[in-house]
Amino acid sequence: MKIRKLNRSETPPWELLTLADPSRIIVEEYLKSGSIYVGEDSGKILGVYVLKETHKVVVEIMNIAIQEPYQNKGLGKQLISHAIQEASNQGYARLEIGTGNSSIHQLKLYQQCGFRIEGVDFDYFLRNYDEPIYENGLLCRDMIRLCYTFEG
Ligand code: COA
Repeated sequence: MKIRKLNRSETPPWELLTLADPSRIIVEEYLKSGSIYVGEDSGKILGVYVLKETHKVVVEIMNIAIQEPYQNKGLGKQLISHAIQEASNQGYARLEIGTGNSSIHQLKLYQQCGFRIEGVDFDYFLRNYDEPIYENGLLCRDMIRLCYTFEG
């Protein structure tokens, strides 16, 4: 899979973006200032992630998704490694990501990639989403905040 930044003139891969975040309104909002990266194989988009600066030295992965038939084959890990490299190259001190309390696999994946839990935004999903989200038999209500810190 080859990963590249999507040009502003190219159409965002909406289906993938809304796989990670069911609110198109929220996605549209962070795409105004975020950069989209796509992972492709033979011209087919298999994955996406979005990087957005949230403070002068902090950047966040706002969205990350792999097409369903290609999930759990290591491609998500490749996107995260790319995001870490990209944030480092751009000189940021911290790379953050947030996920739901019910996103068990994602919590495992992000910690495997070197992120550490550093906070909880209680009731974030209840406050920001119209419809309740259920995953792994759990109501998604709190956002778990994780951070990758660059040394030096
Ligand atoms: N079931 C079991 N384990 C899973 C899993 C699943 N559905 N998805 C990921 N994992 C675990 C694997 O155990 C793997 O760990 P291992 O290397 O020890 O085996 C690890 O996560 C890496 O998985 P990887 O194959 O790189 O992940 P992926 O290509 O499936 O990408 C996501 C991860 C989250 C991007 C992808 O599953 C996805 O698009 N999900 C839907 C959208 C989403 O939830 N986005 C994140 C919002 S916070």
